[in-house]
Amino acid sequence: MPKTFFITTAIDYTNSPPHIGHAYEKVLADVIARYHRLKGEKVFYLTGVDQHGQKVQQSAAKAGVPPAEFVKGVTQKFVDLWKKLDVKYDAWAETIDPRHKRVVQGMLQRLFDAGQIYKDKQSGYYSVRQEQFLTDKERGPDGEFGPEWGQVEFREEENYYFKLSQHKDWLLRYIDSAGAGHDAVIPDFRQTELRNAVERLGGDLCISRPKSRLDWGIELPFDKDFVTYVWFDALTNYISFAGYDPKIDNYEKQPQEFRDRWTKDTLQVIGKDILVPAHGIYWLIMLHAIGFPDDVMPQLLVHGWWNLGGAKMSKTAGNVIDPFALAYKYGVEALRYYLISDIATGKDADFSEERLIKRYNADLANNLGNLLNRTLNMAHRYREGIVKQVGGDSPLAAQAADLVRTYSAAMSSHEIQAAMERVGEFVTTCNAYIEMTAPWKLAKNPERAEALDHALFVLAEALRLAAILISPVLPNAAREILYQLNWSAEYTFEQTNWGGLPAKHQLGKPVPLFPRIEL
Ligand code: ME8
Ligand code: MG
Repeated sequence: MPKTFFITTAIDYTNSPPHIGHAYEKVLADVIARYHRLKGEKVFYLTGVDQHGQKVQQSAAKAGVPPAEFVKGVTQKFVDLWKKLDVKYDAWAETIDPRHKRVVQGMLQRLFDAGQIYKDKQSGYYSVRQEQFLTDKERGPDGEFGPEWGQVEFREEENYYFKLSQHKDWLLRYIDSAGAGHDAVIPDFRQTELRNAVERLGGDLCISRPKSRLDWGIELPFDKDFVTYVWFDALTNYISFAGYDPKIDNYEKQPQEFRDRWTKDTLQVIGKDILVPAHGIYWLIMLHAIGFPDDVMPQLLVHGWWNLGGAKMSKTAGNVIDPFALAYKYGVEALRYYLISDIATGKDADFSEERLIKRYNADLANNLGNLLNRTLNMAHRYREGIVKQVGGDSPLAAQAADLVRTYSAAMSSHEIQAAMERVGEFVTTCNAYIEMTAPWKLAKNPERAEALDHALFVLAEALRLAAILISPVLPNAAREILYQLNWSAEYTFEQTNWGGLPAKHQLGKPVPLFPRIEL
């Protein structure tokens, strides 16, 4: 049986429409998922939307519609975007789904019964405008709460708490022992950041809000005056939409369907802002507390952020970038390519439309697009589109073998940018090979007929290989190249071995693939 690669992303808040940061995360996970499918693994890609909570309740009130109606509209925008961007997931998570509610409530009840959740009284300063308790961190340099908090009053409130700190030592041990080819967190510096935060972990986690304050959420199964607060609800999506049975406290006894998906090869793709404390602390401890053994803890892949002019994108600053507009203006694959080629996984990058155009024109139009077009045109001009295997080994064959090796290493460690750079270098080499062999000269000399056949054949073969390797990022371009090469539309990673074209092969018609974007 092929192994299952389970991949999830953060679920996106539905308090406002999707922006370019959301698009990046889903495309990144989609590329990783497509790579694993290409390798012949069974992939289960889960993504979705986070529909409950205060922010959503506020946005809905502002829009003057009930929250249920409000989230429906924003959810549709996310669904449309993933369709537009060719993000191919296997399951979709919506936290208002009754299935999800059942799992969240079942889990809460079990933890309550096990004495992991208790009721306590909290008192302190409370901002009425922001609807939250304030801590000393929120005080200004003068020791007062600033005007942004509006009216601040002293309040006492009862809530439910999850015994988070009880699991601190376990979490430290888990992080330290994970290693050995399966780090708890990628990249390394984020794992260090998490470990330092766990060291400082003090209190327990408040997991409820009185309904008088927030009612757009999942009710506590043991107290109907409260709803569960955002993270207990949101994080649980990762198992509720994979078939988890909340009544069973032992991972080994979970339904086969769930254990087939949630294996030790579970990768969760999240942004840098939700590692500490949400995923790195709350989520890992929640899983541990409900009976997940250490060897099936998910690995957390933490990506960086797209900024704008060095600053954070934000709706209030009015500088959010609309991915729909970019996809319509430049095409889906130009956008997908930019989003994974101009950022290193784990690091931040600055978004720039100019860079998008530059990268597309240089790498796709001038480099790959040219190679395809020149190769097919020459084959048709000199050989009626028929390529033949003649002569000995080509230096391109050795380069191709190298490429497949370095590409795989990069892709397996989720360094998509590096993998695509390797493909780009190979394509550059192929273009240089055309200049060097100068088929237009060979064509004039009947004594060089074999050399011409050889050059055309290896170029077609190189293109076949490049198409398969770019397919996780550019599925449509890959299909189009293979179509023009008149080669199978079904392909696997093994077929990136040199020598896949039949010894005598009729190529298809050349059609320009990546028209230049003119400014
Ligand atoms: O955090 N660049 O939702 P969210 C790259 N619902 N990634 C970005 C980004 C940017 N500029 N801005 C946001 C939430 N993201 C919760 C998650 S998970 C159980 C619940 C990423 O809509 C962000 O880091 O604020 C996160 O991974 C995702 O988009 C959703 O952010
Ligand atoms: Mg956020």
